[in-house]
Amino acid sequence: MGVYILAIESSCDDTSAAVLKDNVLLSNVIANQDVHAQYGGVVPELASRAHQQNIIPVVSKALADAKISPKYLSAIAFTRGPGLLGSLLVGVSFAKAFAYALQIPLVEVDHLQGHILSHFIYKDTPSPKFPFLCLCVSGGHTQIVKVNDYFDMEIIGTTIDDAAGEAFDKVAKILDLPYPGGPMVDKLAKEGNPRAFSFSQAHLQGYNYSFSGLKTSFLYFLRDRLKEDADFAQKHLNDLCASIQYEIINSLMKKLVLAAKDLKIKEIAIAGGVSANSCLQQTLKETGQRYGWTVHIPSLKLSTDNAAMIGIAGYYKYQKGEFCPLDAVPYSRQTK
Ligand code: KG4
Ligand code: ZN
Repeated sequence: MGVYILAIESSCDDTSAAVLKDNVLLSNVIANQDVHAQYGGVVPELASRAHQQNIIPVVSKALADAKISPKYLSAIAFTRGPGLLGSLLVGVSFAKAFAYALQIPLVEVDHLQGHILSHFIYKDTPSPKFPFLCLCVSGGHTQIVKVNDYFDMEIIGTTIDDAAGEAFDKVAKILDLPYPGGPMVDKLAKEGNPRAFSFSQAHLQGYNYSFSGLKTSFLYFLRDRLKEDADFAQKHLNDLCASIQYEIINSLMKKLVLAAKDLKIKEIAIAGGVSANSCLQQTLKETGQRYGWTVHIPSLKLSTDNAAMIGIAGYYKYQKGEFCPLDAVPYSRQTK
């Protein structure tokens, strides 16, 4: 009959629910929260309130889209962390209450493991073979992860300050672009010259990243140009976006190439919101051709936050019988 998992994701500002039958995605509903746009970033208090409003309609739609009655569900998977505590609490509490009412197991999922395991949702193309490297790039994290098995993952590189998505968002804010900035920078950069301007950035040893210096360099560069010409940002918007995007992607790729060479791994994946970036995807494909990699790029709906990825991680945990007690509490910071 198959395993039916209802998955809930509410770690930041997207309320999402998905239903999977084994590794096949039946529905994936995502409600974005427009309320944050006017503040130029996620306001945690408003995010948890919006989750409260969205959670039941989103779950109802996910069940309806999947054409499944709750009585057929095998388990409920939820994001336990990391993320905003107030946001997580809504999804965690809902998942517990629903699992208790249905008397079915509860499965906790780590948000970043979810991003990585999104590659195992059934599709026409093959999933990554173990061991593979996954560049996990989102608004909160930037990591190179060596994935030995579904739940055997080693973080071999990480950012020491800002995440790559945060760098995109901060640069967009400086340029007065709407939040989240990544998609807009990506769009404008398509019409710009990536070599128009260059910005200095920290070069760390090993596989670690640093993006806060790059953002500061961008800020000071713009501040100096604006003194000479108040319209500089408007006149050179596309070039500014293309140039900063080039620097971020270049930095991401350098460490990924280094790690792949050192560890002799040719199976390479990207995951997380920034993996939706068209320049990153293109650069990854080109680099992959040069080094003989097999590259894995998630579809747009599976790159930014979604419950489908929580569902697939939940499915593998369900198979192992790894259930979670009803007194589980969310965590805001990464624990593993
Ligand atoms: O994974 P995600 O949806 O949420 C977190 O777990 O943080 O990632 C959101 C991040 C934001 O910083 C957003 O600007 C970035 O992903 N992002 C992009 C693109 N689409 C989303 N960054 C660059 N280019 C994009 N096309
Ligand atoms: Zn995420």
